Amino acid sequence: MPDRLKIVFSGPAVPATGTLVVFVADDLTLAPGARDLLGPAIGEVLSRAFAAESFRGKPGSVVSLVAPTGLQADRLVVVGIGGAKDRAEQNFVNLGGTVAGRVGGAKAVTVILAGPSDWPADAQATADFAMGYSLRSYRFDRYKTKKGDTDEPDGPVTLTLALEDHAAAKKAWKVRSGLAEGVVLARDLVNEPPNVLYPAEFARRAEDLEKLGVEVEVMDGDRLASIGMRALLGVAQGSRHVPRVVVMRWNGARAKSKPVAFVGKGVCFDSGGISIKPAQGMEDMKGDMAGAACVVGLMHSLASRRAKVNAIGIIGLVENMPDGNAQRPGDIVKSLSGQTIEIINTDAEGRLVLADLLWYVQEQYKPVFMVNLATLTGAIIVALGAENAGLFCNDDTLAERLAAAGKATGETVWRMPLGAAYDKMIDSKFADMKNSAGRQASSITAAQFLKRYVGDTPWAHLDIAGTGMGSPSSDINTSWASGWGVRLLERLVADHYEG
Ligand code: BES
Ligand code: MN
Ligand code: ZN
Repeated sequence: MPDRLKIVFSGPAVPATGTLVVFVADDLTLAPGARDLLGPAIGEVLSRAFAAESFRGKPGSVVSLVAPTGLQADRLVVVGIGGAKDRAEQNFVNLGGTVAGRVGGAKAVTVILAGPSDWPADAQATADFAMGYSLRSYRFDRYKTKKGDTDEPDGPVTLTLALEDHAAAKKAWKVRSGLAEGVVLARDLVNEPPNVLYPAEFARRAEDLEKLGVEVEVMDGDRLASIGMRALLGVAQGSRHVPRVVVMRWNGARAKSKPVAFVGKGVCFDSGGISIKPAQGMEDMKGDMAGAACVVGLMHSLASRRAKVNAIGIIGLVENMPDGNAQRPGDIVKSLSGQTIEIINTDAEGRLVLADLLWYVQEQYKPVFMVNLATLTGAIIVALGAENAGLFCNDDTLAERLAAAGKATGETVWRMPLGAAYDKMIDSKFADMKNSAGRQASSITAAQFLKRYVGDTPWAHLDIAGTGMGSPSSDINTSWASGWGVRLLERLVADHYEG
């Protein structure tokens, strides 16, 4: 949770100072709850303001009145919630984000969650609103030593959510806030610079999950060598930073119940290695661990709400660097599975890391499913942009569940093809497979490569190169890192794999 934001719940009351937020539907009348609070004089003030701004109560449209006559509050912000159809589909997470984006500068904000009777602003919706508000309020400015020239307040901001059922909303937020924290944790990890967040430091931060009751096992290079994770180790060998694999176990269900498993690519910096990347934009490759960050954020979320599920999170943390000891194009490595890989391009390193993790997880834990997340290919950005993650899946039920969770959370996925003809493209002259088949269909051949390491386990690969970082601003995020996938996968678990 951003420390700068304090969220409290109260019964309906109008504050003496600060910003007051109310909602208005397309009939431009205040809900009775809000009208009683603001007093009769506000009607005339509002109708003049609405006329002056041509405000029609459209969803997301806003009228802002400073020092409004007849009110003690310093500012009254009226937010449109549209017609009956808009209200039935109201996304309270996004609404919270929208409001947070419109009250810049305020130190105290009170939101009166009252609307027409068909507007479902109940306790759960209020908790969702709080989540959207806090996600939008996220800033990553720990390396700025000078106060920016923004209009943001220096001190903490208090958000008061006012509604009849405030006790229930507070309870719902206790559960939801862990999800918001998980997203923030993932964003922080992705935003951190690579000189700070190298593999060992990333592993240390994952160990913080122990405070929530997660079992955290950190494997060092010697251990990985003794297990035989040579595909992963080949990527790490050109770096001064030693690799780590971190296994996180949340045991929220009966011991006998099979776990779900989440696998993350954690390349803390991807220079490309000997197949070095162009200088332009290379700094973005600090975010090549967004998959791993999502897995850590997700484990935080599940544990903090004590989810009734057994969940495994595993992340492979390496740095891909050029060096006298670095892996070469032409090298052949033996993966943990026993299958051999010819290295064609040292910049196709993510699949090498994931191959060993996926094999390890399905052998060790026999999970109900495995979902891996990886900023795997530039080509998925070309195909889908930042709107959808690429979904590659060997199981229709899992694919449908992910698609549904995507629609529900707004973290949408788009299913991509797999097939024998694509698989053939990664056959190698010298080894069992090669790590790159060139430019054609390169997101798909990368997925085919992973598929050779999952056995019969239901498995989904989410290529998040476009969604995990470099995000365009949205209702709920203005930061470079999005924390993409935490809300999606928390929803997947909540809807299908608990109890
Ligand atoms: N981490 C990159 C993919 C990437 C690119 C993520 C841009 C985010 C933004 C990955 O390791 C990579 O370099 N992939 C290569 C694969 C190619 C060499 C087969 C790519 O996509 O160009
Ligand atoms: Mn790469
Ligand atoms: Zn990479």
